[in-house]
Amino acid sequence: MGTSQSQWSVEKRSSFRNDSFSREDENVPETGCLSIIVLGASGDLAKKKTFPALFHLYRQGFLPSNEVHIFGYARSKISDDDLRKRLPNLGGWTRIVVEKPFGKDLESSEKLSSQIGELFDEPQIYRIDHYLGKELVQNLLVLRFANRMFLPLWNRDNIDNVQIVFREDFGTEGRGGYFDEYGIIRDIIQNHLLQVLCLVAMEKPVSLKPEHIRDEKVKVLQSVVPINDDEVVLGQYEGYRDDPTVPDHSNTPTFATMVLRIHNERWEGVPFILKAGKALNSRKAEIRIQFKEVPGDIYKCQKQGRNEFVIRLQPSEAIYMKLTVKQPGLEMSTVQSELDLSYRQRYQGVAIPEAYERLILDTIRGDQQHFVRRDELRAAWEIFTPLLHRIDNGEMKSIPYQPGSRGPKEADELLAKAGYVQTHGYIWIPPTL
Ligand code: BG6
Repeated sequence: MGTSQSQWSVEKRSSFRNDSFSREDENVPETGCLSIIVLGASGDLAKKKTFPALFHLYRQGFLPSNEVHIFGYARSKISDDDLRKRLPNLGGWTRIVVEKPFGKDLESSEKLSSQIGELFDEPQIYRIDHYLGKELVQNLLVLRFANRMFLPLWNRDNIDNVQIVFREDFGTEGRGGYFDEYGIIRDIIQNHLLQVLCLVAMEKPVSLKPEHIRDEKVKVLQSVVPINDDEVVLGQYEGYRDDPTVPDHSNTPTFATMVLRIHNERWEGVPFILKAGKALNSRKAEIRIQFKEVPGDIYKCQKQGRNEFVIRLQPSEAIYMKLTVKQPGLEMSTVQSELDLSYRQRYQGVAIPEAYERLILDTIRGDQQHFVRRDELRAAWEIFTPLLHRIDNGEMKSIPYQPGSRGPKEADELLAKAGYVQTHGYIWIPPTL
């Protein structure tokens, strides 16, 4: 990669506050060259996310301006031109970014962690979960802890249920081989959705230091009670097995809805519904916090639907609050509406960085806040391993669903059973500019 001007321009150009990140290797001067080794350089992730993120960081001047080396390593056979096998020995610090899958269950993950642990210390290991690099995921703690109005509401007294949803409107497309070994729970729920759950549910950390934040996340994970099979619905879209890399009798779920329960003072009795699916009727990721009904309701709000606080992670990033308001006009009637902070409209001209861009930059800066610590990973696997083993052993079956649908109807039934009340006749439409 080419060079320009002197020294690191990272801090000068940064829009982050200086105190918002820490460096683990305080004694290492941030000069000299930066070497980044991309493992799996011929793969899907490298092509779609890692290399474009590096390129954007470079273009915006966030990479050290004197010299940057990017090495790619891949198992597949690619030419020397594409693959530069030289290992860096250029001084400075070493940080290793590790991407999932971090094993397949608790045991294999722990084994992997021990192996990596023999080579690197925990402050050098950056376990990436790219959902932690998304703008609105990064906003969660600010929303929760910098706004007085949420503090008294954010608990079992007011919140009826929480949904964390990931939907994709395409199938496994060319990734069947990988996907079939893992399935939607390992691919999305055990990591991306669970990380989001931690940020929604955790207590206020002592400070914004990465370790303080991660301590609180671990406590949430340790308070999750074992998953009840009756609160799990698995699905597999029709046509999934047509992929030549997928075995004919695969039971791998491409869809799952499940209820997680957190046994602590704040959340006892509040279902956290995690839902993820491929080949569905829409593409979106969101957090939906549904409040309880108004006690002693005089406006018949109940009929119109409950208050909801929704954080739309993607696409059309937004935070909106569904409310009952007076219908404008002479009549005294009520209607559902929303307070809407749609990013595209509110922050015109502000480019939202790609998650990988932000996380690679964090790695260069030595900020581990948005990375998964070893004990966090372990606790995450502890939650899902028993369920995953039951699925792997064929004790739980995936229900077929039509590609382009909402998924199995049993999932909606589970949602209703868990207490979610769908609002009819109201739909939030992202504003157009
Ligand atoms: C990856 C999963 O971690 O996240 C993919 O392996 C999924 O299956 C992807 O498609 C979704 O990421 P995003 O950022 O597009 O929501």
